[in-house]
Amino acid sequence: TPNTALAGKTVLLTAGPTREAIDPVRYISNHSSGKMGYALAQAAALAGADVILVSGPTALPVPPGVRRIDVDSALNMHTAVFEHIERCDIFIGAAAVADYRPDQVASTKIKKTGADNLAVTMVKNPDIISEVAGRTNKPFTVGFAAETNQVIEYAQDKLQRKGLDMIIANDVSRTDIGFNSDTNEVTVIWPTGQQALPQLDKAALAKQLIDLIAQQCTLLRC
Ligand code: C5P
Repeated sequence: TPNTALAGKTVLLTAGPTREAIDPVRYISNHSSGKMGYALAQAAALAGADVILVSGPTALPVPPGVRRIDVDSALNMHTAVFEHIERCDIFIGAAAVADYRPDQVASTKIKKTGADNLAVTMVKNPDIISEVAGRTNKPFTVGFAAETNQVIEYAQDKLQRKGLDMIIANDVSRTDIGFNSDTNEVTVIWPTGQQALPQLDKAALAKQLIDLIAQQCTLLRC
């Protein structure tokens, strides 16, 4: 029997890293592979949702049944998200958005000089998920917390501070799970409960996460 947990719902996700340009040929980025976000997009589509995936640069194919919008920088990700926010019921922020960007992008390639040091001044990027969660009529909003210590405490704090409905916490101090790996082990936290999930491959984990999201979202009549 087909999985209809999210039938009739529109799910908007972010995934992957962002690239913050320094000049026309250089950028600052991070090691996010996009695997967890893409697995969630696929699981949401398999659960019957309309899925829009706003993705930073990754090597991954578009999951079947998913509409992907390619972006590079955090500012472009922000623009793409808010172009589609109105019609979504569920927002999942799985992207590793750069917290800062160079304050100016040089219009031509920066040349080597005689100096031993080169300073790049950075300015804060908008926090996309906080802005989503701050809207009146906000979608059911799910974020990630990658932490190295006091994982549950910091994730609970992030849930409250960002105004999220659910947060998926994982311990990135462990090299066998999380960033860039094919498996993950997470604890899911929402305002009135939490659930630890076992170590699973990202496709199996994504299915369980989508089931939990559908459950809590239904309870809140989202
Ligand atoms: O604050 P921190 O980066 O640890 O929060 C992680 C969560 O916030 C993730 O869900 C991530 O996608 C989201 N985020 C965002 N925009 C930012 C930074 C983080 O949407 N600028």
